[in-house]
Amino acid sequence: MSIDDIGSVFHKYHNAYLASVHGANSELYRNIGKVINPLLKGDVLDIGNGGCFAYDVTKASKIVAIDTCFKTGLNLEKIANVSYQYDDILIPKTLHPDSFDTVLTQSLFHHVSGKSHRETLKNARKVIENARYVLRPGGMFVIIEPITSAAFESIERTLFKIFLTCFSVFRIPMIYLFSFKTIMDLLKDVGFVDVGYGEIKCPKKIDLCTTILPNLIVIPGWLAHFRYHFFIAKL
Ligand SMILES: C[S@@+](CC[C@H](N)C(=O)[O-])C[C@H]1O[C@@H](n2cnc3c(N)ncnc32)[C@H](O)[C@@H]1O
Repeated sequence: MSIDDIGSVFHKYHNAYLASVHGANSELYRNIGKVINPLLKGDVLDIGNGGCFAYDVTKASKIVAIDTCFKTGLNLEKIANVSYQYDDILIPKTLHPDSFDTVLTQSLFHHVSGKSHRETLKNARKVIENARYVLRPGGMFVIIEPITSAAFESIERTLFKIFLTCFSVFRIPMIYLFSFKTIMDLLKDVGFVDVGYGEIKCPKKIDLCTTILPNLIVIPGWLAHFRYHFFIAKL
């Protein structure tokens, strides 16, 4: 499944996805909002926005939300300081250097997997490089991401092709969860020298299949094989 196909899946299941955001995953989004709100400043780029905001949009002067699911026919909420743009962060066509004070990705990294483990790492690195490219001096890159253990990531790495085949059989976008160390190493490698981090408060419940079966495969938050983390990266 290509990046554009992943966008098409999120386009097709947009309403279902929002049902989960406002339903089973609502506590998770509230907890994420509490972390993001104090960090937002100036002009914000929200990559892989998906048409939903866990944060208070009035905290930013303007928000440019980009996503590969932003194709015609999507019913996106009209908000005065928000503009929606179709773009792929791996090969962006609408972004310019030094144009944002805050760059945000929320639940994006686990969706940029490629056809191999090597390509997946390359894609994650590309997201970080492009965040760096658009940030103004003194700007901040905020990542909110479900993070798995190093042990689980090494299983994903070893069994990559098997996982990929399983996801393709069900026509579901491949999910590759990163460990804390992988994200940290990539950030440092790309030049983010000052990186703060922490865990987002674990919600009581978590929805595991937000697009295709929203509000159905719901487990206690503590049982999940990942925890939501935040990274606050500065150059
Ligand atoms: C799990 S959703 C997250 C949506 C929202 N940020 C949230 O936290 O609910 C991941 C989003 O990333 C988008 N996406 C995946 N790959 C992308 C890429 N290369 N460039 C831009 N958006 C991408 C998908 O279309 C999808 O809307």
